[in-house]
Amino acid sequence: MAGEMSKEIWKPGNMLYPLPVVMVSVADRAGKYNIITIGWAGTICTNPPMVSISVRPERYSYSILRDTGEFVINLTTRELAFATDYCGVKSGREIDKFRELGLTALAASEVGAPLIGESPVNIECRVRQVMPLGSHDMFLADVAAVHADKKYMDEKRRFHLEKAEPIVYSHGAYLACGEQLGTFGYSVRKN
Ligand SMILES: Cc1cc2nc3c(=O)[nH]c(=O)nc-3n(C[C@H](O)[C@H](O)[C@H](O)COP(=O)(O)O)c2cc1C
Repeated sequence: MAGEMSKEIWKPGNMLYPLPVVMVSVADRAGKYNIITIGWAGTICTNPPMVSISVRPERYSYSILRDTGEFVINLTTRELAFATDYCGVKSGREIDKFRELGLTALAASEVGAPLIGESPVNIECRVRQVMPLGSHDMFLADVAAVHADKKYMDEKRRFHLEKAEPIVYSHGAYLACGEQLGTFGYSVRKN
């Protein structure tokens, strides 16, 4: 079998897929809101809880992020797939994305950036460091608060994110998540 394996070698590029695609909301100093779709986002530390987003300086949202040092990561779902793409191809320079998409801006608890009400999980972030890397600057941020929609909690207050139908981005396409294959540690669990 091994002899039949055959691979093409590609030039260096980004191929770490699938990945979470998120809607990042910001507010400028005048209180004007915007949303930018981000694929280059990641969890980078458990304790303290930290995340990163990488943003091109030419984005309208970039100067707001630089100026305020605050943003909210909003998880995306099947229902938000259209809005996710739209916020990734339209600029806040020209349009009000909240209004165009009929999305609800809710007040955050720790930062000036708004939460997207329709998103099941909102992660409030405060920028700690900006690292220029090349095409993108990476914003390293502390998580200031997390909001989870009660709609997805059961009687025991257990949160069922899968009920929100989260989506992923993979090599140019938005995909729904499939069936559960196991849970953390199932490979070594005795039952
Ligand atoms: C799926 C997807 C992922 C994206 N990921 C990023 C990203 O990680 N960083 C970035 O700077 N732009 C990313 N973009 C592009 C921005 O979302 C897009 O340029 C957007 O229009 C910028 O909005 P703004 O000008 O209102 O800030 C992505 C777009 C899509 C559709």
